[in-house]
Amino acid sequence: MPLIHDMDRQAAVDLLHRLVTVGVEFKLDDQVTRKRLTPQDIRDLLVTELPEQSTGVHDVAQELVDVVLPLCNNEASPRFLGFGHTGADVSALAAGLLALFAQQNLINQSFAAPSATFTEIAVIRWLRDLIGYPNLPVNEVRTVWDVGGVTTYGGTGSNTTAMLLARENIAPGTMHTGVANAERMHIVVPAGIGHYSVKSALEWIGCGGRIIEVPTRGYRYDLHQLEKTLTERRDEIMSVVAYTGDSRTHTVENLRAVHDIARAVRPEIWLHADACWGLMCAFTPELAGKLDGITAFDSVTVDPHKVMDIPYAMSALLVRDPASLRLVSSYSDLIMQEDFAFGQVTPFIGTKEWSSVKLWAMMRAHGRAGLAEMMQRRLITTRTFSGLVDDNPRLLRLNNPDMTAVVFVYLPTGHDPQRPDVDRINDVSHRIHARLLEEGRWHFHQFSIPDDTGRISQGATLRPLRFMGNNGRITEGHMRDALAYVTGLGRAMENA
Ligand SMILES: Cc1ncc(COP(=O)(O)O)c(C=O)c1O
Repeated sequence: MPLIHDMDRQAAVDLLHRLVTVGVEFKLDDQVTRKRLTPQDIRDLLVTELPEQSTGVHDVAQELVDVVLPLCNNEASPRFLGFGHTGADVSALAAGLLALFAQQNLINQSFAAPSATFTEIAVIRWLRDLIGYPNLPVNEVRTVWDVGGVTTYGGTGSNTTAMLLARENIAPGTMHTGVANAERMHIVVPAGIGHYSVKSALEWIGCGGRIIEVPTRGYRYDLHQLEKTLTERRDEIMSVVAYTGDSRTHTVENLRAVHDIARAVRPEIWLHADACWGLMCAFTPELAGKLDGITAFDSVTVDPHKVMDIPYAMSALLVRDPASLRLVSSYSDLIMQEDFAFGQVTPFIGTKEWSSVKLWAMMRAHGRAGLAEMMQRRLITTRTFSGLVDDNPRLLRLNNPDMTAVVFVYLPTGHDPQRPDVDRINDVSHRIHARLLEEGRWHFHQFSIPDDTGRISQGATLRPLRFMGNNGRITEGHMRDALAYVTGLGRAMENA
């Protein structure tokens, strides 16, 4: 049946070519989605029994195009305003296609990924270079332990590897002996704005969800409280996590200060910067200063699939001292004991696809100048959106964007800044978002967040909307239309 060598060569090329065309049209579509159904309806449509008889390869492709794809969300649509994961970089798409065919496995170099291993090493070194970690001269890169990082399937995977490193750093050998004293394995995170992945990581690696939440101000650690907590609980803490762009407002932590405080209290504390979003600051000299201090952190997570327009999934954990990855290495005669077998340094991952080639192609194609230009465009979009929010008396912006995230709420009629009705604001905002999701015409993100800038009521939990200016297709017209739509919905919801 339809293995590639069983088909007529031209028929195979035509089929693949047709799906590439469909894919390009999908990406260029203006709509967030072509068809909306309830989850139950989609379940009933797609969760079917395995057919007894074979279905022709063309029919399967047609079913995907006609039935499945119209229900997919298009994050490259200029109406998808909540994230910027467009996956629309052409070089990355092309490289990703080739990687599908090439079927390389990054677990081993010699027989599974002879060249892919080295494009992956190049990408890791480019990422290190962007954030300011030094690289060894190429001729001194003799093993995977000289590279200074690993790629993973996402920020969650990278953060989990970082927490594993923190654990081994504070209690060497725990990999082999198991956790003996989890009370030494707390991590410090900022209250209310952290990403669940670090807490889950602790749970997954046997430390229990031992997080210590420190109060924040303006979506960064309250440094006085940080110092107090670290001093009081000094011997219980294995790591401090700093968000270099938190998940919600993308505010960049005061990295230098966090570093100085933590190192002064206890030099062995593993300092981890989650720069899933913050990698964007490295693209342009205008924002690079925000990363000041990051190179003194022991590890840094970056998530190119979030901020570089490359298709999923591609993240990396970078480490200050490349040899530190020995702490979490695996040895097995099923992984080649060869110098460049990445399988030795990627906890939780065995077989690994050549995802990094998408980033390799994107970064080759853009170069530093292209990345800077891309980021400048994003900043202009973000500033335009912020301005539109600020000019609209029915909307209130909650953050001062460090990068491209603008967090805002709709203010119901009669809103009194002296006596804000937080429940009503949240209720209307929640209903606006529910309607947006239901209709699928526009998309903003939503979450709960403490009002850390006090623009409504200091410390209250808010449910705002979030815009991101990353998608290069967003025009001022889209932004104006989307905000007019949101305010229209707000008016309708508050009267409903
Ligand atoms: C700050 C931060 N860290 C980690 C993650 C997890 O990334 P992923 O979904 O790629 O695993 C996210 C995702 O939104 C994030 O915002």
